[in-house]
Amino acid sequence: MKGERPFIVLGVTGGIAAFKAAELCSSLVKKGCDVQVIMTENACRFVTELTFRTLSQRPVVTTLWDVPEWHPEHVALANRADLFIVAPATANFLAKYANGIADDALSTFAATYAGPAVIAPAMNPAMWCHPACQANAALLAKRGVTFAGPVAGHVACGADGVGRMMEPEDILSIAEKFLHTP
Ligand SMILES: Cc1cc2nc3c(=O)[nH]c(=O)nc-3n(C[C@H](O)[C@H](O)[C@H](O)COP(=O)(O)O)c2cc1C
Repeated sequence: MKGERPFIVLGVTGGIAAFKAAELCSSLVKKGCDVQVIMTENACRFVTELTFRTLSQRPVVTTLWDVPEWHPEHVALANRADLFIVAPATANFLAKYANGIADDALSTFAATYAGPAVIAPAMNPAMWCHPACQANAALLAKRGVTFAGPVAGHVACGADGVGRMMEPEDILSIAEKFLHTP
């Protein structure tokens, strides 16, 4: 750990499970972590940054172009973070992360950060099973990224199969293995 308290970057992407990320954010804060949330533009269509700003008690990063200090935020955060969690992680985010695409605040952070990462995919089972998505997930796993789910069940779009986001408390249990919280 780089500071006294674990510093976590929590990425939230544009899936219907984004509302569950609020619970995860709240639980991490209650565990004594400093949580910096980065939302994609599409995540902001599902949940508001106000929710995460309030729960994390710090401004949410939603753009690359709001540079608060002399150095870009994604570099500063990549140097500071002890753990990177993405919940929910869209198929789009997995593709970008696996291929080093850096075209927004979250993917640019991901392309800069070199520490441990816990990724909780959530999507329609057909998206998860698609060979492209499976190849992206396999590549990330080979590089040492930890996958929290997805799990089997009923997804919001009405389908059944593997694609549901793991429950926040289970993601937290996996994340805690990387943290030294009381
Ligand atoms: C109602 C709705 C629900 C969606 N849910 C998901 C989802 O659960 N998982 C996913 O991978 N994409 C989902 N999408 C598609 C993503 O929002 C889309 O691929 C988007 O480009 C993702 O952007 P982001 O990865 O930058 O957040 C959904 C789209 C809509 C309109």
